[in-house]
Formats: sequence, C-alpha cells, structure tokens
Amino acid sequence: MSASSNLLRLQRAINYQGKRAYHDLVTLPSKKPIISQGPPGYSAVTGHVVTVFGCTGFLGRYLVSKLARQGTQVIIPYRDEDEKRHLKPMGDLGQIVPMEWDIRNENQIAECVRHSDIVFNLVGRDYATKSFDFTSVQVDGAERIARVTAQSGVPRFVHVSHLNASATSLSKLYQTKAEGEERVKAVFKEATIIRPGPLYGYEDKLLNNIAIWPIWWKLNDAKTMTRPVHVMDVAQVLANLVHSPQQGRTIALPGPSTLTYEYLLDLVSSLTYQPPSRAPAVPKAVALAVAKAAQAVWWPLLSPDEVIRRYINDADTPGDWDVVGVTPSEIEQHAIQYVRRYRSAENFSRPNIFPPRPIAEEEVGLGF
Ligand SMILES: NC(=O)c1ccc[n+]([C@@H]2O[C@H](COP(=O)([O-])OP(=O)(O)OC[C@H]3O[C@@H](n4cnc5c(N)ncnc54)[C@H](OP(=O)(O)O)[C@@H]3O)[C@@H](O)[C@H]2O)c1
Repeated sequence: MSASSNLLRLQRAINYQGKRAYHDLVTLPSKKPIISQGPPGYSAVTGHVVTVFGCTGFLGRYLVSKLARQGTQVIIPYRDEDEKRHLKPMGDLGQIVPMEWDIRNENQIAECVRHSDIVFNLVGRDYATKSFDFTSVQVDGAERIARVTAQSGVPRFVHVSHLNASATSLSKLYQTKAEGEERVKAVFKEATIIRPGPLYGYEDKLLNNIAIWPIWWKLNDAKTMTRPVHVMDVAQVLANLVHSPQQGRTIALPGPSTLTYEYLLDLVSSLTYQPPSRAPAVPKAVALAVAKAAQAVWWPLLSPDEVIRRYINDADTPGDWDVVGVTPSEIEQHAIQYVRRYRSAENFSRPNIFPPRPIAEEEVGLGF
C-alpha cells in the first residue's frame, strides 16, 4: 500500500465524526446505559427515546424539532391524523414515531411511554370544550399520564404547568394548573414542573391576538402586567432537560421583563404600522357577557375565563433560567418576525419602530 493511501486512511480516521468515545456512553437515572453516535443533526443518534404528550400544540412543535435535531427518537402521541403531519419530517426515517392516543385510555398512554426514558406532558387547554373541561385535561389527564408513566418504570417526567398556577386564582385555568401540579407530584414524586409565562411566537395567542383583536387587550385599561417569554427559549429549556439528571423541582420561566398590555398594544401597532385601536376599554361585565354569548358557537372565541385572566397580573416569581442554562430574550428581539405579516404591502419592508419602554415598575412603585 502506498504511503499516500496510508496517509489518506489516517486522515479519514482522524476526521471520522462517527467514532465513539467514552463520553458517548450515558447511564440513565434508571441505570440503563445508552450510546450516542454521530455529530448532532440529521442522522445523529443520542440514544434517548422521548415521549411528548401535547406535541401537536404550539410549544410541542418546537420541542419536537429541537429533540429531533439532537438525534433523539421522539414518540408523538396524536389525536387527529392531520395535526401531526408537520412533525414527521423533523427527524430522520424512524426517528419521529406517531402513535394515536386518547387522554382517557391508560393502555394507549402506556404504549406511548413504553420505550421512553423521559416523558414530557405539554397537554393543556386555555378554554373548556363540550368534551373536556379544564379539570379533565389539566388535573385528571395530567395525573393519569404521570401515574401510567411511573407505573411503566420511566425514570423522568416533565410536566408543563403555568407561571400563574395558583389554587386561589380566580381563573379556572390557573386553578386547575395548580391542582394538576399537586396530583402529578403525588403520583410521580421526582417530576419536574415547568412554569412558563405567556408564550409568544408564530402560532401564539398573544401577539397575533393583539394584532387582530386589540379591543380585548384593553380590558383593565390595559394596565395588567405580563411577563411574555419566547417559545424557543422554553423549548430549549425542555430540550436541555433530556441531558440533565431529573430535577425534581419546580422551574419558573417568566420572560425577562414585566410589561403592560398597553405597551404590547403599542409595540404591535408600531411594528405593524397599524394605527392604534381607538376602541374604548370594554367594562368587565360587558366583556364577560359577550364572552359567555360567544360560547354558543362551536369554534373557540374569547371565553369568560380568558376575560378573567386579562385582569390578573402575571406572578412575580423569580425566574430559574440560570438552573437550566438558557438566557431568555426580550420580546423586541423577535416580535417583528411574528407580526410583520400584519403589515400592509406598502409598509412591508419599512424600518422597525419601537415605542418607548415603560419605566420599570419598581421606579414608579407599582409592584404586584
Ligand atoms: N401558550 C402559552 O402562552 C402558555 C403559557 C404557559 C403555559 N402553557 C402551557 O404549556 C403547554 C403547551 O401550551 P401550548 O400553547 O403549546 O398549547 P396548545 O397549542 O393549545 O396545545 C395543547 C396541546 O394539548 C393537547 N390537548 C389539549 N386537550 C387535549 C385532550 N383533551 N386530549 C388530548 N390532548 C389534548 C393538544 O392536542 P390536539 O392538537 O389534539 O388538540 C395540543 O397538542 C400547555 O400545558 C399550556 O397550558 C402555555
């Protein structure tokens, strides 16, 4: 064999990305060893198998995408055939595994978690339907998923709750989120509870809704305080948890700044070049009556619980971002990406104008 071909072999051996090293061997909390292979990206294998309940939702799609890019095999439980189709091309062949499920069917839940070493529960609803009220999804459903996961011997469970989860909240959504957390912890002691603030991103119900229905964000004279957080930051936190030991704690993920709805209305109006809404602030009783009447139709419209939530400041809990190794980004960094579509054609590429940030609440003595 010539010296040049030997040199080429040596060079290939050095450059070979797929070779395994000692650090590729990971021992899961269940003591099961797994071996990763290849560089991160398409065709990589981390050796982890993850189930994401609620994968078909807003946060779910970004989590599945991040997990798939790492080379993790993802089980995606779905209810509607069409709702999971966009997730399939996020990974290599066989990496994204759809499985039909019903939140009331324990056998199907057990099938979905059978081979996983970590299970995420992102299932939640911000409005009640005829078939599922808040309790059946966020309390009974959450408990059932956690219990079956524990019984199946899966070592790690991550439950996504809400920053404002509180047993004493006036909102049924926040109340059931708090109750759900307790029921999950009762059946899966080491569960990690994630409490994100209101999420913004392409499919959000925050910036999009403000752009379309500014009138409903003027409730409470738009003085309600909110701590919006980028959906990508929360998805990154969840994806990082796959590689960290079970946290067994509650992790609050509020956005980095506390803002008012008034500021968000100004932000969306400035970025979209739409004139600020001149609609008056609707009194609470009227808004509740309208929301109640809107429940007569079969598609989701403003619900009475949503009206109540518009009057509740986001919890003043400190963020646990340092624990999870992610720095949350400010809403101004990303907002244009999500609201540019509301600009008219002639304004589409005009420069971004930001309204002045309100003075920090401690300076004006607001607090919660
Ligand atoms: N979005 C926010 O601003 C925000 C803020 C804080 C916390 N969270 C929490 O974060 C989690 C994810 O939020 P998201 O915005 O991604 O929610 P989302 O877009 O509404 O998605 C909810 C997910 O839950 C599933 N789901 C709802 N009801 C179900 C039921 N009865 N049976 C089975 N699956 C059901 C949905 O499945 P289908 O597609 O089949 O309907 C979907 O996959 C939720 O727990 C939410 O409460 C959200």
